Amino acid sequence: MKKMSMVAITLVLLGGGSALAGSHGQVTYNDHIKPMMEQQCFACHGESSPSIEEFDADQKKYTTMMVGPRMTTYQELVHFVNGDDAGAIMRRLDDGKNTPTGKPGNMNIYLGDSAEARIKNLDLFKSWVGHWTLKRQAELTAEDHELFQIMEKR
Ligand code: HEC
Repeated sequence: MKKMSMVAITLVLLGGGSALAGSHGQVTYNDHIKPMMEQQCFACHGESSPSIEEFDADQKKYTTMMVGPRMTTYQELVHFVNGDDAGAIMRRLDDGKNTPTGKPGNMNIYLGDSAEARIKNLDLFKSWVGHWTLKRQAELTAEDHELFQIMEKR
C-alpha cells in the first residue's frame, strides 16, 4: 500500500507540473508568468513601452497615453517585486485584502475579464512571488528578501 501511494505521488509530481503549480510553489516566470502577462499586461507594458528610467523621467506623458513601463523580461519584472520599485507588483495587483484602504490595486482589474480569472491569475502571481508583502524597498528586511521565490525557470 505504501509503495503504491509513493508511485502515485511520483506520477502526480512528474505529470502534474503546471496543474500543481499553485499549491507547490513551482510557478516560474518562463512557464507561467510571462505567458499570462503577454495576454493581460503587454498591451500597455510590452515591447513598445518605455524602460522604467524613461517612464520615470516623464510619467505624466506616458500615463496620459495609458502606457506603463516595459515589463517584458524577467529582470524588468523583478525590479517591481524586490528591486528598486519593490512591492509595486503586489500593491498594484492586490485584490484589497492587504491594502491599507481595502481597495484593490489599480492593476488588479487587468488580471482577467471575470472575477474568477482575476482570482486565478492573482493566485498565480502570489505563488510566484512567494512572499506577498506590499513593503517598499527601504522597508524590506533580510528575512523578507529570503522569502521571495520569483523563480525564472525550472
Ligand atoms: C490598459 C493599459 C494597462 C494594462 C493592460 C496594464 N497596465 Fe499596469 N500600468 C499602466 C499604466 C498607464 C501605468 C502607469 C500609471 C500608474 O501608475 O497607474 C501602469 C503601472 C503599473 C505598475 C506600477 C509601475 C511603477 O512605476 O511602479 C505596475 C506594477 C503594473 N502597472 C503592473 C501591471 C500588470 C502586472 C498588468 C497585467 C496584469 C498590468 N499592469 C496591465 C497601464 C496598464
